[in-house]
Amino acid sequence: MSNAPSIAGRDVVTLDTFSEEEIRAVIERARGLKADGYSSTMRGRSLAMVFFDPSLRTRASFAIAFSTLGGTVIDLVAGRDLWQLEMREGAVMDDLADEHVRDAARVLSEYADVIAIRALAREGDWAQERRDRVIVSFQKHAQVPIFNMESVLDHPCQAWGDALTLEEEFGELRGRKLTLAWTYHPKARPLAVPHGVSTMACKLGMDLTVCHPEGYTLDARVQQSLQHTAAHSGGSVRTVSSLEEAVSGADVVYGASWGSIDRHGNAEREAALRGKHKDRRLTTQLMSATNGARFMHAMPIRRNVEVDDAVVDAPGSLVVRQAGNRLHIQRALFQEVLGVQ
Ligand code: CP
Repeated sequence: MSNAPSIAGRDVVTLDTFSEEEIRAVIERARGLKADGYSSTMRGRSLAMVFFDPSLRTRASFAIAFSTLGGTVIDLVAGRDLWQLEMREGAVMDDLADEHVRDAARVLSEYADVIAIRALAREGDWAQERRDRVIVSFQKHAQVPIFNMESVLDHPCQAWGDALTLEEEFGELRGRKLTLAWTYHPKARPLAVPHGVSTMACKLGMDLTVCHPEGYTLDARVQQSLQHTAAHSGGSVRTVSSLEEAVSGADVVYGASWGSIDRHGNAEREAALRGKHKDRRLTTQLMSATNGARFMHAMPIRRNVEVDDAVVDAPGSLVVRQAGNRLHIQRALFQEVLGVQ
């Protein structure tokens, strides 16, 4: 058994709030569960999932992880199953919203031992969006731990599962080179995966290269935090714009696309900028300049737009294992957060 400090009762909203030791302890538990099977440690407990946005992997892996540990899962879709929620504190609720998040979170806490939320960005000002109001409101009002199933700012269970996949592949990750490569996508995708994966790489002492065209920086406060985290863990972080330079010598190329923060809330201006970078696609030629790099992506993938079929389906592609490992890391997290020894 690990001597890492307990994370029982904690919210899982970003890896940034967990120490390297705590992150490694959860990975270790997940490896054990994957190798040796798992018992009915969630019997008599329940998970309430609330989706404000679509999902395949997260929905399926959260539900199956909890239910195969013996627990009960309810899956609520905002706009279909829930009353429309008011998020503003002290609001005079004479408009469309029927219920305040304060009441919804407290009531769900009566039924469920864990509440998990997916809530991505809407069309708005980035300074407001980055406050992650839905997740933060549930954190504030719920009486049970909150799991982030992807928010405006982060996707911690994806990143934690990716760390498990990387450890399986490489063993110790310290000093390994991970390139996060911005690729073209017809839509402005969330920043949650890029932020989460970057945080994970820096926490575990990897050498992170973030590669994107001008106008596609990560969130400024997340960037500051990455620098601080890398300095603490012995890792490093740099930003480059050339894909060729970014992938040269990489051990891992992590493909992702994300929207321009500067143009957030202005779809037309964002699309105009994005349209200039249609040639940013990961190809076998680019992968051949790496250190035999593994290819990673959180999925869903726009094949032959973000990345060629030949890269996604190559022996060095980890994308399906990454998705599968979400099950094991989430089982481990449920056990850790709910205090299973
Ligand atoms: N990677 C991931 O979160 O996939 P979904 O959006 O399908 O859940």
